[in-house]
Amino acid sequence: MFERSAPGKVILCGEHSVVYGYPAIAVPVGGLRARAQIEPAPGGLRLLAADLDEEFWLRDAPVEQPLAAIARLTLEQLDAVEPDAVLTVRSELPIAAGLGSGAAVSVAVARALAAFLGHELDAEAASALAYEVEKIHHGTPSGIDNTVIAWEQPVYFVKGATPEVFTIGAPFWLLIANSGIPSSTREAVRRVRQRQDAEPAVYAAYFARMGQLAYEARQTITGGDIRALGPLLDENHALLRQLGVSLPALERLVAAARAAGALGAKLTGGGMGGNVIALVRVERKAAVAEALRQAGAVQVWETLVENEHGTQINAGER
Ligand code: PMV
Repeated sequence: MFERSAPGKVILCGEHSVVYGYPAIAVPVGGLRARAQIEPAPGGLRLLAADLDEEFWLRDAPVEQPLAAIARLTLEQLDAVEPDAVLTVRSELPIAAGLGSGAAVSVAVARALAAFLGHELDAEAASALAYEVEKIHHGTPSGIDNTVIAWEQPVYFVKGATPEVFTIGAPFWLLIANSGIPSSTREAVRRVRQRQDAEPAVYAAYFARMGQLAYEARQTITGGDIRALGPLLDENHALLRQLGVSLPALERLVAAARAAGALGAKLTGGGMGGNVIALVRVERKAAVAEALRQAGAVQVWETLVENEHGTQINAGER
């Protein structure tokens, strides 16, 4: 039996503007993972999505089925024939929540299937395969999710450029709070595209500032000046609100985190649902987590951001 796993991720700065070629930064969330296990079994390749209670043969699955798509792409890449095996996927990541669940599943499946066939996929190969599946889900993905998840390192990302892993000068805590509202990245990206088509100059200025914030955030993080990171996250959130991808429920979470002493807070990922992140000093962590729950978060996780992917402790459910 082979098992491979991949982490979730959060975007710290630059979601949406990254689609238009501006830089963004993202970090893996090592404690929230998708896992794929594969073992020999007769009859071809059987895929089992344990959380969704779905089970099917690869040969019967439609092209757009994400597990089938990543399995087919991996076999093609390795020039391998379909093995006789059963591959089971489990994920701790909420689906449609901006935490990279789709890319994490793809990377875990590609690596497990490759391992079963006697190959280890490096980060670049796993990322490239997951990107092909992201295209099926999202239409025009920037590639940031598959990149940070396959590399499992903090990444400074510009679409089309070689991703840069960057150094965390001083580890810092993030709280991740799930609004419980499903978020469609495809829909959010479409909405932003429509708005920018209507007001290109205004949106170009927003995107440029968001890219600048990602650049400044990277400098700040590498320098270990975590306090200075908070206002950058806050400004990024204000711009995301201008883009039209926030929601009253997300605004409540962001406001509650700041009022309880977070250094900064913002929505993360596509928005219109999904998660917010709050930057917290360790001594305010519990109070801010509680404030987030009071403000409606259905789950709150904490993660320590550091170069070795951080430990993560579930801070409980409401
Ligand atoms: O998959 P999500 O919800 O984390 O969104 C990815 C970030 C976007 O910038 C909104 C889209 C993209 O392709 O980069």
